[in-house]
Amino acid sequence: MTNGGGADQWREEMRLAIDTRTHTTPQVAPIDALDGAAIRADFPVLNQEPRPGKRRLAFLDSAASSQKPRVVIDALTTYYAQHNANIHRGVYDLSEIATQRYEESRKAIARFINAGSARECVFVRNTTEAINLVANSWGRANIKAGDLIVFTTMEHHSNIVPWQLIAEERGARLGHVRVTPDGRLDLEHLAELLAEEPKLVAFTHVSNSLGTVNPVREMVSLAHAAGAVTVVDAAQSVPHMAVNVQDLDCDFLAFSGHKMLGPMGAGVLYGKKRLLDAMPPFLGGGSMIRKVTLDRTTWADVPAKFEAGTPAVADAIVLNVAADYLSTLGMDRVWRHERELVDYALDRIREVPGLVVIGPQDTHERSGVLSFAFDEIHPHDVAAIVNEDNVAVRAGHHCTQPLMAALGVPATTRASFYLYNDEEDVERLVESLHRVVEIFR
Ligand code: ALA
Repeated sequence: MTNGGGADQWREEMRLAIDTRTHTTPQVAPIDALDGAAIRADFPVLNQEPRPGKRRLAFLDSAASSQKPRVVIDALTTYYAQHNANIHRGVYDLSEIATQRYEESRKAIARFINAGSARECVFVRNTTEAINLVANSWGRANIKAGDLIVFTTMEHHSNIVPWQLIAEERGARLGHVRVTPDGRLDLEHLAELLAEEPKLVAFTHVSNSLGTVNPVREMVSLAHAAGAVTVVDAAQSVPHMAVNVQDLDCDFLAFSGHKMLGPMGAGVLYGKKRLLDAMPPFLGGGSMIRKVTLDRTTWADVPAKFEAGTPAVADAIVLNVAADYLSTLGMDRVWRHERELVDYALDRIREVPGLVVIGPQDTHERSGVLSFAFDEIHPHDVAAIVNEDNVAVRAGHHCTQPLMAALGVPATTRASFYLYNDEEDVERLVESLHRVVEIFR
């Protein structure tokens, strides 16, 4: 802490730190562009014969869950056909091979996010479970009555509800960083909340509703200066851009495999080892123990301490195949492809009469997530009509009800782009939105 000069000086230091922050939005590398149509050929779901009279599926809901390339689907089949066994238990070949692959996948995932050690990567089901693990384990051990927990108004419910639950149990207080009308975090308000020395600050890297990219490195550094532990929801960043946890210096970071071309069922909690070592287990049972007596149990080392019971072995092993597919294409190229698509989409979508883009209006601080609304047309009607044209988008509050309330919209329609989309998908969306307007005219 550097607030020896009182709260005013502290605020001033925070303000200066924010004013001089550099953007962490990844820079677009001068490399070959990806060809969305060519990539689509690897994704069986996207190559199915459309219903009679329909065009191919334009899939624009990857923020909810991504499609899977053939190599991922084949790897799952191969695992179950050739290697299936429970892990960390058997001495027979099959079990040892499954165990080895599971641990190799952990190492590969650690490299994918540049963790210092594979022990810092805990396999969980998804981002929600990862955040609940931190809230229940780190939270129970460290949050006391009167402590402040800070999250932001931009969060997915999975980065709100676990903190509410632990705050209620512990008698802790909650602080919420405000958002600006164009859907960015109000960093001055963050500085004000940091002056109250919160125990923990939780925030999303990229907004699942708006695509806003937050300046994570700077936020982590400000939170650390205030003595807080940081939790980053990276569900919408790790699949789309190069994320380097050592560079961000976050204490915990959570992401889901199913949003990054992997199977549904395996996600990751990254945590700094000294924090994970000091935390009590979240779930108790097999695999997470060192010694059990009828009265007392001692724990296995991390990450096993947090992996009670039989994990989603196949899904965790195949997550490595998905990460490898992305790495082979190059995360910088994936990011650049999405930025270019959303740039094009922002231009084209504004041609649609009455359509308002919700969230940042430029591409500078946004990912390939694009939310929009019409004054007089309900987002569910929009999604249902574009579905008739075989364009898949999501409509609703996107599990971000507080954000919708802060922006004064009940819901939005959301198109989200990934590596297998191209300009034709954008045109299909725009064409279909013109039809929506015609129908409601
Ligand atoms: N969190 C996912 C989404 O934003 C489900 O759609």
